[in-house]
Amino acid sequence: MSTNNSDPFSFFCPTKLVFGPGTTKGAGDIVAGMGIKSVLLVSGSGATRRSPGFAVLMAALDRAGVAYTIFDKVTPDPVAELVAEAAEAIRAGGLEAVVAYGGGSPIDCGKSAALAAANGVGILEFLYKRAAPNEPALPIIAVPTTAGTGSEMSSAAVTTDRANDRKLGYSIESFFPRAAIVDPENHLSMPPRVTAATGMDALTHAVESYLSLAANHVSDAVNLKCVSLIGAALPKAYADGGDLEARSAMAIAGATAGAAFSQTGLGMVHGFAHPVGARFGVAHGDANATILPYVMAALARTAAPRMRDLAAALGACRPDAPAEAGAAAFVEAIVELKSKLGIAESLSDAGIRPEDAKELLPDALGYRMRARSPRAMTDDELGRLLDAAIAGDLKAAAL
Ligand SMILES: [Fe+2]
Repeated sequence: MSTNNSDPFSFFCPTKLVFGPGTTKGAGDIVAGMGIKSVLLVSGSGATRRSPGFAVLMAALDRAGVAYTIFDKVTPDPVAELVAEAAEAIRAGGLEAVVAYGGGSPIDCGKSAALAAANGVGILEFLYKRAAPNEPALPIIAVPTTAGTGSEMSSAAVTTDRANDRKLGYSIESFFPRAAIVDPENHLSMPPRVTAATGMDALTHAVESYLSLAANHVSDAVNLKCVSLIGAALPKAYADGGDLEARSAMAIAGATAGAAFSQTGLGMVHGFAHPVGARFGVAHGDANATILPYVMAALARTAAPRMRDLAAALGACRPDAPAEAGAAAFVEAIVELKSKLGIAESLSDAGIRPEDAKELLPDALGYRMRARSPRAMTDDELGRLLDAAIAGDLKAAAL
């Protein structure tokens, strides 16, 4: 993590963030204003597709004269085959761009399809580094309905490789959406369980980005604000989904944390959450939330001053509290928040057995952002940390 003002860094986020209740109505003009005349409109098939926001979005595109082909087949944790189908729809229709409406899954599927279509190459070729894109992804416009993934303002997209039970992230500058239309009214119907899981994903992004070795002053400012917004708003949005103020705070935090982690990378909470999600079907946000305090306990020795900052942002300690006490207060605050939100305390509560660790660990050890962790943990240490997260043993996680 950056400690000197003279440390070099860059901060790049070309996404135009358009925030506010009702902004979906302006989506068509925003797309048309980019000179785009035809799009693949990507969404899930369920409640999101039938939501009033989707109808508002279609009407907005109609009004602006933007033609769209609907691709409403996206399932959670989109697999490479689905991405290929969406890419084929783009190519077959000669479409110019992607408008993605929904949570992280439709937005990530839309991004991956936009890259695959532009290059005529399957997404797995890029994920496994068997090929590098020659062309940028087609333009992407994201209209999120959850506050968590940050995909609406990030350079990353995750695809599931079902043949190998792996979730693989890919980052490229052209994955930054041209516009993120963040309309909290689209979040009002999100059920409490989804609110909790996606909200904890957003919190995990801000926390891991703040603790990353690549953190800088700009990402720090964004992340501390996100942590304080989420700490205050997530319990409210969970308790009362119709609370527009709380939904708005979550929507801003979820989106902007995506911009921050695109600069800094994430850490081992995500490193463990990906295999837990890919192999055991645990929702991404739930997996992150369950694992978060254990990884934090492991980092407390190395990253105590910055964990104290995070605790202060949550209101769990004073900004000038001793670092060690602040770090402990942060772990405690996360445990408390999780229990308020009804999230599994340990991975065994989420259905993972101790003997599953050997299946999960190799994938976590190969996590592409492992080197960003403020504490360089050995393979053995990460193995013990995973065992502790399964057992629900915070003391053992402190290593
Ligand atoms: Fe995430």
